[in-house]
Amino acid sequence: MNSTTIDEAAGWLETHFSASRGAALVLVLGSGWNSVVDDLMEIREAAAYADIPGFPVSTVDGHSGRLLFGELAGVPLWVMQGRFHYYEGYGFSEVCFPVRVFARLGARGIFLTNAAGGIDPSYRPGGLMVIEDHINLMGDHPLRGPNLDEFGPRFPDMTEAWDGPLRDILLERGRELEIPLYRGVYAAMSGPSFETPAEVRALSILGAHAVGMSTVPECLVARHSGLRVAGLSCITNLAAHHGGEPLTHEEVARAAALSHKRVVRLLRGVIPQIQAQL
Ligand code: HPA
Repeated sequence: MNSTTIDEAAGWLETHFSASRGAALVLVLGSGWNSVVDDLMEIREAAAYADIPGFPVSTVDGHSGRLLFGELAGVPLWVMQGRFHYYEGYGFSEVCFPVRVFARLGARGIFLTNAAGGIDPSYRPGGLMVIEDHINLMGDHPLRGPNLDEFGPRFPDMTEAWDGPLRDILLERGRELEIPLYRGVYAAMSGPSFETPAEVRALSILGAHAVGMSTVPECLVARHSGLRVAGLSCITNLAAHHGGEPLTHEEVARAAALSHKRVVRLLRGVIPQIQAQL
């Protein structure tokens, strides 16, 4: 990833998304989350990732591969309908390219969503987890290589990778809306295989509450650029099924869809408050 391609994509978006000027918040919709957008906001402008210079293309079922700009209760909002994953064969610089582009466009916050397997034995499929912290087990780092000094420092601090005040907004609003929320640590594995039972036990010992194959690279690059990061996982299954039937991507997508209504209510509740904080 170099500054020229970031500038090129940012310039293209400024031209093609003329209403987006000044939008401070980006929402990234992960596996099973793509459909919430129809009930979430007024879409003003849209583009296929394939049309945006430098953007990779989503290859996973359930990831639409569109960038949207719209308004939710008067809040201007970028929405990535589908993300890029390391397991698709992309390098981290491609996975995180959009984050850098939004940073260049002046975004100040990013809200990352995903589907995840539950590791904490109290978690149930369909539940939502506010991400409090993460463990990067992907075996690579998106900031490896020459540092882009114009975005941030060589050795960025990660003690507040997941923003405390934004987390509090999620938890408080969840209480008000009577939407139960877990809070926990998200472990990122490279995928694409789901975890073995021994890996799930190991992750539990390491302090993870949920496991997935995304999100952490975007968080690291966003923090490097000074964006504030919030995140929500939909627990779609118990990781390694704790001895149940084999796990499939279809099951993950189906389970995420079941949380659709709750997710829309929660996002509509928190996004104006998050925007007000940025
Ligand atoms: N493991 C990894 N990623 C996932 C899972 C899982 O069990 N469920 C949804 N995404």
